[in-house]
Amino acid sequence: MAIYKEDIAEYIWRNGEIIPWKDALIHVNAVGHASVAGIFEGIKAYWNPDKNQLYVFRLRDHMKRFLFSIRMVRYGFEYSLEQLEQAVVDLLRVNKYRQHVYIRPYVFQKGMVRELLQPQPGKATELVIDSWPFEAYQSMEKALHVCVSSWVRISDHIMPPRLKCFSNYHNGRLAAMEATINGYDWPILLDDGGKVTEGPGACLLLVREGKVIAPPVTSGILESITRDTVACLCRNTLGIEFIERPVDRTELYVAEEVFFVGTGWEIMPVASVDRIPVGSGGIGPITRKIAETYRSVVLGKDPAYAHWLHPVWD
Ligand SMILES: Cc1ncc(COP(=O)(O)O)c(C=O)c1O
Repeated sequence: MAIYKEDIAEYIWRNGEIIPWKDALIHVNAVGHASVAGIFEGIKAYWNPDKNQLYVFRLRDHMKRFLFSIRMVRYGFEYSLEQLEQAVVDLLRVNKYRQHVYIRPYVFQKGMVRELLQPQPGKATELVIDSWPFEAYQSMEKALHVCVSSWVRISDHIMPPRLKCFSNYHNGRLAAMEATINGYDWPILLDDGGKVTEGPGACLLLVREGKVIAPPVTSGILESITRDTVACLCRNTLGIEFIERPVDRTELYVAEEVFFVGTGWEIMPVASVDRIPVGSGGIGPITRKIAETYRSVVLGKDPAYAHWLHPVWD
């Protein structure tokens, strides 16, 4: 039920100025209010100079998750999985990338800010795919000093973390801000029952007794593709047990190793939690082994995982 009419004002107030309404344009990268319910993905492509090839890593899986998120918010959306994949390849080709690249598809419903609380199932959306050269946030040799945040992780019955929606990220932003002003590199969030969830933009894994332990996907985390990749590498290549179970805060203080996993962060070791050193305080041997194997897979050096790579160049 539409409660507003389509007519528009002649002027609008913007950044302290009164300007003609029709001139108050925004760039697609500044979707503003539309981003409240905007859905996005974060994908990475890796350049392998020996093979002269750019590989998009697990493109299909990222686009499947994108479509799942779109389904959860009931957006009208006309693109198939194949079309989304082709769009990414076309974009990377036209930008002539021969380096590692981050790819950011996002979709939002068209509309005005007054429609914030007027969601309409199936209403037209705008799809944008952005990309930029991206090496890494930082070297994994510099392990992170993290804290447990005083902010509680959102949960499935409040704002589902499974949904990769821009507004979910305010929760992580608050935690990251708090961590930074308190002198930490990054936070870990607990759920409202006190169990470990994840970081603002990456999942969290622990090593105890030589086994990798992961909070389950029902623990207030995004269904991370990197987490799944690490599970496969542990189980199928490295012979390391990968266990999914709820994790207590105090386990972070006694774990042999703790590390974040995510498309952007890749495999990022944690040096201390709440100023308690993790293991010897550096990069643990299992984290290092997983990181090296991950690198080799994303760069297309491991034929066993060639099915995860989407080549860009003919
Ligand atoms: C909240 C959150 N958790 C986990 C991840 C890791 O997910 P993926 O491995 O699919 O990049 C991300 C990555 O964007 C994220 O934003």
